[in-house]
Amino acid sequence: MEGLNLLKKNISKKIENADDVKKLNEIFQEYLGKKGEIMQAVKSIGKLPKEKRAKAGKEINEVKDFLQTKIDEKIQETKERIIKEAGEKEWIDITIPGKRIKTGYIHPLTQSIRSAVEIFQSMGFSVAEGLEIETEWYNFDALNVPKDHPARDVQDTFWLKQEKDNKQGKKLMRCHTSAVQIHYMEKNNPPFRIVAPGKVFRHEATDASHDVQFHQLEGMMVGKGVSLANLKAVINEFLDNFFNKKVEIRLRPSYFPFTEPSVEIDIKCLNCKGKGCSVCKKTGWLETIGAGMVHPNVLKAGGLNPKFWQGFAFGMGIDRLVMMKYKIDDIRLFYSGDIKFLEQF
Ligand code: DAH
Repeated sequence: MEGLNLLKKNISKKIENADDVKKLNEIFQEYLGKKGEIMQAVKSIGKLPKEKRAKAGKEINEVKDFLQTKIDEKIQETKERIIKEAGEKEWIDITIPGKRIKTGYIHPLTQSIRSAVEIFQSMGFSVAEGLEIETEWYNFDALNVPKDHPARDVQDTFWLKQEKDNKQGKKLMRCHTSAVQIHYMEKNNPPFRIVAPGKVFRHEATDASHDVQFHQLEGMMVGKGVSLANLKAVINEFLDNFFNKKVEIRLRPSYFPFTEPSVEIDIKCLNCKGKGCSVCKKTGWLETIGAGMVHPNVLKAGGLNPKFWQGFAFGMGIDRLVMMKYKIDDIRLFYSGDIKFLEQF
């Protein structure tokens, strides 16, 4: 049985060299499958002379069993190897530091509003909240804004398509935070000091220094003998703390319907220290806060008697202050949702 031994040797080698289960199954089919060479040899035993059959049958069966076992073992071994290799690849190193989950950022405007409010709270101011949708009465009439004032124009204000109320007038997106003054006076008795931060809306063409939405911080102090000197001291204290340095200011006469007298408070340009640059349009000063002594008509509209009470009020554009603080040159960045910009703060 020379041929059989050679076949056994060849097949054994093939089994040894096979490195995956698919190949081993193929070898099985080729030699031990129904039509395989070994099985053909088993079948051919019947054709042998009787006396040779037993011996030949035994030999072939031995080879068949041998190869069958060898393939089974190799298949088992290959499967174990594959599992082991996969396991090694997936091995988890528990000593590796975990992946840092990206946390969000507090928006620079929110951060600044919080810090501004804290500074005012340290001076005894409390926080009043207002409404972003206001009525014509609170936003204009109660604040002594004349009926023909240009701010009431559709070009400036977002009017809502809602029915007009007889007393309150039409609804609108507030164009300033000043209406909070009236709401607060209606519900609270003087003396009081309040600040009211919030969003305001203007129907404007946008550019680097204008957006249709921005933030203001309204302030009001009502009591007996409250004066412009108090206003100046409060604003000085606020700005020095907000910018963390001595900020120089100047008060200029101005006009607002809700204050008399009215002033505009300018900050000496922090960028050029007053020398004149592109930020301050070469003037050395930046217009930042509108203020004044609360107009008697406004006190009356809030239900207070101007003979007993007087006070100051102011309104500042938060976005502008933050832009100055961090040297941001485009207001629209605040509302762009650009993570690269926001994560710097
Ligand atoms: N409401 C004004 C504006 O939006 C700012 C302002 C000026 C607020 C004078 C005041 C004030 O309270 O007294 O431009």
